[in-house]
Amino acid sequence: MEASHVAAPAVRLGRMESPGEDEIATPSDSITTGPPVFQVSDLSVTYGTHLALADVTMSIRSKAVTAFIGPSGCGKSTFIRCFNRMNDLIPTAQVGGTVLYHGEDLYGPKVDPVEVRKLIGMVFQKPNPFPKSIYDNVAFGPRVLRRKDGLDERVESALRRAALWDEVKDRLKTSAMSLSGGQQQRLCIARCLAVEPDVILMDEPASALDPISTTAIEDLMHELKTDYTIVIVTHNMQQAARVADMTAFFSVDVGEDGQRTGVLVEYDETQTIFTTPADPRTEGYVTGRFG
Ligand SMILES: Nc1ncnc2c1ncn2[C@@H]1O[C@H](COP(=O)(O)OP(=O)(O)OP(=O)(O)O)[C@@H](O)[C@H]1O
Ligand SMILES: [Mg+2]
Repeated sequence: MEASHVAAPAVRLGRMESPGEDEIATPSDSITTGPPVFQVSDLSVTYGTHLALADVTMSIRSKAVTAFIGPSGCGKSTFIRCFNRMNDLIPTAQVGGTVLYHGEDLYGPKVDPVEVRKLIGMVFQKPNPFPKSIYDNVAFGPRVLRRKDGLDERVESALRRAALWDEVKDRLKTSAMSLSGGQQQRLCIARCLAVEPDVILMDEPASALDPISTTAIEDLMHELKTDYTIVIVTHNMQQAARVADMTAFFSVDVGEDGQRTGVLVEYDETQTIFTTPADPRTEGYVTGRFG
């Protein structure tokens, strides 16, 4: 793997003043092993009048896997969509607070969300290959970005990094729809890697897959974190424990009016979250007593 692909973001997103150290949630000293990729401060998301997620403050570590866990409806997908401005595509969604990406305001007025999504790729729960050949799926991003030099090499490299090359190298021109679900998901990861992102967001990437494909995806995350920053949402706590360096536990607060709002309860090293969490709500969830 070539680390040079992902060293620094290729575009500047517009500079703003960084919050002070004490304003950012750094749950334990050990998180600060390098400058964070994202610094989220007082982030809230509303859909229409529904406050779906409130006051999240945390930072995301570089070249590590960070997992978001918590019960259904606590805002995990809502939150992960904030990191590449996917919520912009939901007309009723409004994002408040600050998300800094390498110190720059991701929601600044001069930032182009399309540029953002080139640097911060996303893989969804359900594999969503295009109805094209395996090759054309992976080549799609580089072609759109007019990076056509050495396209064959780019496609091969992305498929190799997604641990799919050996399974598809003799059938690159066949339809992606002929692949198994697990292969399709690795193809979607390859498609994401082909544009050389800095960050990969994955919203329950393995929840529709069988155990063998799930293991392949987990192994892949382990490999990829050498070069990429990875953020995943998972319902599978064993999976979080296996793959994540850091884990954030979200829960739902129910207001007097019955409104359900997601909150970040606790964020720490994965081992701490699963063995000695600070908050009884986290302990209840990870030991299966609620959620
Ligand atoms: N596009 C949307 N429009 C309106 N409300 C939404 C939208 N997406 C999510 N919500 C609401 O925001 C809240 C959080 O939803 P979200 O999908 O982020 O939760 P989640 O933690 O990902 O849940 P799950 O584990 O079931 O995937 C829910 O109350 C949900 O109904
Ligand atoms: Mg979700």
